[in-house]
Amino acid sequence: MPLLGVNVDHVAAIRQSRFTAYPDPLKAALICEKAGADGITIHLREDRRHIQEKDCILIKKNIKTKLNLELALSPWITDFALKLAPADVCIVPEKRKELTTEGGLDVFKNERRLKKIIPLFNKKGIRVSLFIEATEKAIALSKKLGADAVEFHTGSYANLRGAARAKELLGIKKASAFALTQGLLLNAGHGLDYENTTAIARIKGMNELNIGHSIIAYALFAGLDKAVRDMKKLLL
Ligand code: PXP
Repeated sequence: MPLLGVNVDHVAAIRQSRFTAYPDPLKAALICEKAGADGITIHLREDRRHIQEKDCILIKKNIKTKLNLELALSPWITDFALKLAPADVCIVPEKRKELTTEGGLDVFKNERRLKKIIPLFNKKGIRVSLFIEATEKAIALSKKLGADAVEFHTGSYANLRGAARAKELLGIKKASAFALTQGLLLNAGHGLDYENTTAIARIKGMNELNIGHSIIAYALFAGLDKAVRDMKKLLL
């Protein structure tokens, strides 16, 4: 059974939409752990649209499982991550105007920067995962650069339907087998939901799935009834 890392960025996104103190992503992280999450994933974006530095510090300090910090190859963010020293970092591509991470990291274009930064994380005992498309070339280069893990981008798989999705899944399965032969930890994430996750979870050797949006969206409906009832009680 793969580990589940729950991404709580979306809780911080609701908070930042009003700059209120709630909802607190740390509180969400603690509930996720209590419910069985094996780790907490957060993405400190350059534009700070959801998670802030303060959240990273508080979550790292207070969770009992492990923190997986997603980050782009931006010097300020990588310096912060080196100081924070989470258990894992996952290096992702980032574009200012994107709604969410679009596609995997181009390890070929970023080879020089990765070659410099990965050993710095390695030295601090921080595991490095690269968020990549599931191709043998990208996997082989990730291994050569010293990554401990690869996280396959499952966004296309999630968006496709029918035969096209089956083909994408087959590609992910083949790439997974190759990643295991390279001695890499095998992770996956993006767009995974209550309908499409099982097939990815069943891939042989799958170590960890990082899931955020679908869980937080589900939580709204799991909790909306109580939220309204509790407010009604205050009106009595
Ligand atoms: N893994 C990575 C590397 C991501 O960038 C994200 C989105 O922040 C996720 C997993 C979680 O994706 P989702 O919110 O679609 O479940």
